[in-house]
Parts: sequence; C-alpha cells; structure tokens
Amino acid sequence: MPTEDATQRPVSVTGIKPTGDPHLGNLVGAILPALELADEYDSMYFIADYHALTSLRSPEAVAHYTRSVAASWIAAGLDPDRTIFYRQSDVPEVFELTWVLSCLTAKGLMNRAHAYKAAVDRNKERGIEDVDSGINMGLYNYPVLMASDILIMDCDVVPVGRDQVQHVEYAADIAGAFNAVYGEHVRFKLPRARIPQDKSGQTLPGTDGRKMSKSYGNTIPLFAPEEELRKTIRRIPTDSTPIEEPKDPDSSPIFQILANFADPDVTATTRAELMAGGMGWGHLKERLFGTLNTYLAPLRERYFELMEPDSRLNDILAAGADKARKRAQPTLAEVRKAVGIG
Ligand code: TRP
Repeated sequence: MPTEDATQRPVSVTGIKPTGDPHLGNLVGAILPALELADEYDSMYFIADYHALTSLRSPEAVAHYTRSVAASWIAAGLDPDRTIFYRQSDVPEVFELTWVLSCLTAKGLMNRAHAYKAAVDRNKERGIEDVDSGINMGLYNYPVLMASDILIMDCDVVPVGRDQVQHVEYAADIAGAFNAVYGEHVRFKLPRARIPQDKSGQTLPGTDGRKMSKSYGNTIPLFAPEEELRKTIRRIPTDSTPIEEPKDPDSSPIFQILANFADPDVTATTRAELMAGGMGWGHLKERLFGTLNTYLAPLRERYFELMEPDSRLNDILAAGADKARKRAQPTLAEVRKAVGIG
C-alpha cells in the first residue's frame, strides 16, 4: 500500500465504539495507554460510530455517545495536531473497502467470531430453536468492517483490549486472503494487536472488585458532577470490619482504585494506615473521592466545554476526517484498480 519512506514512524490505529459514557476503567485501560502510544507511533484514533449501530437503536444515543467519547479523549489529553482523530462515518472509503473485503472473507471465519458465537450460545441456552434469532448482519459482519478500518490506514499496530484481539487477527487473515489473490498488484500490511497496560499492569477494578465494566454496572463515571462522584464512591459496598481493626488493602477495590491515581507516597501511607487499623472504610472513601476529584476536575471542565453544541469539537473532527480520508483514498484507489473496478 502507500509506499513508506524510511523516516516514517510505525502507524497505530484504533477505534472506540461509542456505546456508553466513558468511565474510569476506559480512562485507565484504554485512553491513557493509547495516548502514551502517540509518542512511539503515528497514531490514528477514531470513533466507530457505524459499529455502534449493531446494538444502538436510538439516534439520540448514537449522536450523544459519539460526541461524548470524542470529547472525553480530547479532555483527557489527545492532541489533534499530533494524532489523526476522526469519526468512522466521515470516511466513506472504509465502507467501500468493507464490501471488497467481504467478498474475500470466508463465511466460516465469521461463524467462529467470538461475539457472534456468544450470541448464538445465548440463544441455545435459552432453548430458542433458531440459533440466529435476534442477530443482525451488522453483528455478523462486524469483523469485516473492523478489518477495513484497520487495513485502509495501512497500519502496523492496533492497540486493543484482550476482547478485541481475535478481531485484529481476523483483519490479518482477511488481509492475507486479499494478498493471496491480488498480491501481485497490491499487498496489505498484516496488522498486529497490542494490548496496552495500565500503570499497575493490572485491570482497574470496579466498585464490586470485578473488572470495571459497563456490563457489570460497577463503573465510576469520568465526568459526573462532583456531588455525584462523591455519592458513587460512598455507595461502594464494604464489609463491616470496625474502624479500629486492621484491613487488607489488596482486597479492597477502593484502595486499588486509589493506588491508580494517588501519588506513591499517599498510596504507601494509606496502605500502612489500613493495615495498622484505625482507618475506616468511610475515611478511605473520602480519600479516594478527594484524589479522584482533584485529578478529574480539569478534565471535567474541558469535557463540558467541548460538549457545548458549537464547541471546537466540530472543527477538530472535520479536520481529522480530512486527514483520515487523505490517507484512506490512495489505499482504496489501489484496491479498486487491483480488483478491476473503475
Ligand atoms: N470493535 C472495537 C471495540 O468494540 C472497536 C473498533 C472498531 C476497533 N473498529 C476498530 C478497534 C478498529 C480497533 C481497530 O472495542
């Protein structure tokens, strides 16, 4: 695909599906590590709004989450002058390539995709006779659209969570299938997944100790107003160990979340205080609230500014779309030529 000059840095591409308001787990597990990658790679990040359509039916929700995710990434420090930041739907070349790729993708490969198989299994568990019941073609074709997102940008690395690794492998498989047929004319680079690590190398726990995830309902929202943040933290369930008794910091999600955001000396002091006894859960929660609130306040302010209807978000996304299309167009042009179209 577009020829590379020796001075170019490797390219990373990743998509963010706008299906919910961002929470602390997204920040620690995805946003911050991805922003760090921008030091090493020429990075491209996009809002996968058409992917969201496989599950979202409310136009207001699609529009809101698309803006909210975009605003969150910029509020968290994404620099649109350094990173190409765009909406998937603003790059029509992606969808044209999706069709070409789907003509080279084995249907059997899609039958084995995790998300599709999970949906089939749910139907089987419920004893539904038609195992494809309720499954739309968007969900089924999801990996092909994702392969197109990746391959059209001629990238090297795709930073994703573990749950998306199979999709990146599929993108490489699909690229291979294309190359096998048309490789004499054009070849896609084979992308690799890269799993970003958060600061502690572990997954941020949610309020119940399991991985923080929207599907578990255990999240702490990123941009809740101060009072709501305080309430969310106060409501974190704890056991009834009396204040004076020693507590195990490592089995407390409150402590673990704190450790992700506090200065190391605060973390160390808190650990010692908990283990010595005399620190109650209420006190620990108040410390977590203070730490998070201090950290999040400037992000929150930028976020709400960007969420204003005529904020600079619109210009940022328009400029990003422009750059993304300039990168996608030569790829698509070569593909069209290779397959004999146009
Ligand atoms: N499927 C990804 C997710 O749900 C989002 C996504 C869409 C993506 N296209 C992509 C990620 C391309 C990486 C590359 O999280």
